[in-house]
Amino acid sequence: MTKRLEGAVVLITGAALGQGNAHARRMAAEGAHLVLGDIRVDDLETLASELRSDGTRVLAGRLDVADPDDWSSLVQDATAEFGTITGLVNNAGIMSRGSVLDETLEDWMRTLAVNQTGVFLGLQSVAPIMQKAGRGSIVNVASTLGRYASTVGFAYQATKGAMLMMSKSAALSLGPSGVRVNTILPGLVDTPFLADSKERGALADPVSRTPLGRIGKAEELASVAAFLISDDAAYMSGAELVVDGGMTSGSLQSLKPLKEI
Ligand SMILES: NC(=O)c1ccc[n+]([C@@H]2O[C@H](COP(=O)([O-])OP(=O)(O)OC[C@H]3O[C@@H](n4cnc5c(N)ncnc54)[C@H](O)[C@@H]3O)[C@@H](O)[C@H]2O)c1
Repeated sequence: MTKRLEGAVVLITGAALGQGNAHARRMAAEGAHLVLGDIRVDDLETLASELRSDGTRVLAGRLDVADPDDWSSLVQDATAEFGTITGLVNNAGIMSRGSVLDETLEDWMRTLAVNQTGVFLGLQSVAPIMQKAGRGSIVNVASTLGRYASTVGFAYQATKGAMLMMSKSAALSLGPSGVRVNTILPGLVDTPFLADSKERGALADPVSRTPLGRIGKAEELASVAAFLISDDAAYMSGAELVVDGGMTSGSLQSLKPLKEI
């Protein structure tokens, strides 16, 4: 694998499991030093030990992305260890299950705290360090559910839709100091996040409407995140990359040619 992230220091949130774990593995393989945060500290330490034994420098620490104190202490430790942070992947996220009428206030508040305030705090904690260095790349992990509606996950969709605009606004503000901000919109990705839906058989319909005919692998998202963090994406900022096997490419795909109607 090419070492295009040699010299990069990348902070990844929600790195213990799922896509965050895959981002960490991919970026380590491409030569980055890593700062990993999650609330699942045991799983995080297992990953960190594995990556260290393969030769990657890793700082791993408890980070609830909704907690400003956790951000301060992880970022402080990271700059003490590595001197700077050049990449940030705001990946941590949680699902809410309700519709507009049955989402509970508690679920609404927690989903906003993690998915939206968590990204806000990540931007405010790390972007100034990048600005000072005159370079940096931030990747926000949203969802196709931030662009296309569903009846479930009302709070979740609100946060992912907001994230699209937060990314673009941050791209405008930070671009002049050399900091890029881009967003990934995953479709269905095979991680613990989907465990529930898999058990309930809820994925058969969306998979059947996915041109590539399957759920994505976490590694297939990690390769896109590594690209955006790297200088291969040096002229990309404010972009939204949909990575969903084509699932959202054609809501009118069964429309008949006009002459047949
Ligand atoms: N898996 C999918 O189908 C899918 C689809 C679209 C978007 N996404 C998004 O991709 C991102 C990653 O999801 P995933 O599939 O890896 O999910 P996952 O549930 O498998 O992993 C999420 C990780 O985030 C961590 N986390 C949860 N709350 C946290 C908090 N408050 N602070 C820090 N870490 C926290 C978890 O401990 C876990 O390690 C999320 O933002 C999610 O919304 C996932």
